[in-house]
Amino acid sequence: MGLARRNLIRMRDLSAADIQQILSTAAACKDIFSREVKKMPTLRGQVMVNLFYEPSTRTRTSFELAGKWMSADVVNIAVATSSVVKGESLTDTAKTLESLGADIVVIRHPSAGAPALLARSIRAAVINAGDGMHEHPTQALLDLFTIQEAKGTVADLHVVIVGDILHSRVARSNIWGLRTLGARVTVVGPPTLMPPGLEELGVRVSYDLDRVLPEADVVNVLRIQRERQPTALIPSLREYTRYFGLTRERLERLRPDALILHPGPANLGVEIVQEAVDDPRARIHDQVTNGVAVRMAVLYLVTGGRHDAVAA
Ligand code: CP
Repeated sequence: MGLARRNLIRMRDLSAADIQQILSTAAACKDIFSREVKKMPTLRGQVMVNLFYEPSTRTRTSFELAGKWMSADVVNIAVATSSVVKGESLTDTAKTLESLGADIVVIRHPSAGAPALLARSIRAAVINAGDGMHEHPTQALLDLFTIQEAKGTVADLHVVIVGDILHSRVARSNIWGLRTLGARVTVVGPPTLMPPGLEELGVRVSYDLDRVLPEADVVNVLRIQRERQPTALIPSLREYTRYFGLTRERLERLRPDALILHPGPANLGVEIVQEAVDDPRARIHDQVTNGVAVRMAVLYLVTGGRHDAVAA
């Protein structure tokens, strides 16, 4: 089990019971959002380091808030002004941070496998905040939390994930989590942005968004990741929007009780229009808020906490 080893690297390591433990702990953590003083002593004395080799707004900030609200000493490493630019390796950087007292290292890295390498190299708990095109487990957990909060359950829901599946660590982690909790998953996108082997993960593949949208309980719209596309894999953004964008017209095809998710940041007017972000069915702002609760839960559990003690 992932968290028993004091690391969170991949959703595929988590059982349904592990995921539900994290979600129920997150629900208890979310209680403090309504308090005037958002502070609990749970991680007092623990040093948490945010080590981000790629840009981030939501993940980095919500980990920082989660750590601070749980009274950890939080340190943010700006890679661009660290000794990484002098050529210091990932493991040497992490060992240096450990020598400075790090108990938890939250890492985002462009290379798949970097968090796993780190977890083998240091004693501190390691949390994957996104590694290349591999996994983004805390994004999947906050998506699952948001769905469960709105729908009461994830099991047996039909979740449509649309977009750049090939480059998406969010898609991969969501597929593992959704399938583990018993959801039906359909992935939709252009053939050039669809990796091989998806059916082996138990998901349906479609290239026709208009056909699957009316059957969706949840539609999770992914960002076109142009920074990870070495060559043009789609003819044009306008054509992408025409076939795969969540447009005003496609909002009409969605069920009245469907949920709209997007991990952010969004390319407005490309994969999603502003009307969809503002639609009453959208839970995109809830996802960001829930990210703090879920990351509090993960921090708590990787440091050895019992989930029934969180609300105390
Ligand atoms: N969803 C997500 O990972 O957003 P950031 O890149 O802003 O952290």
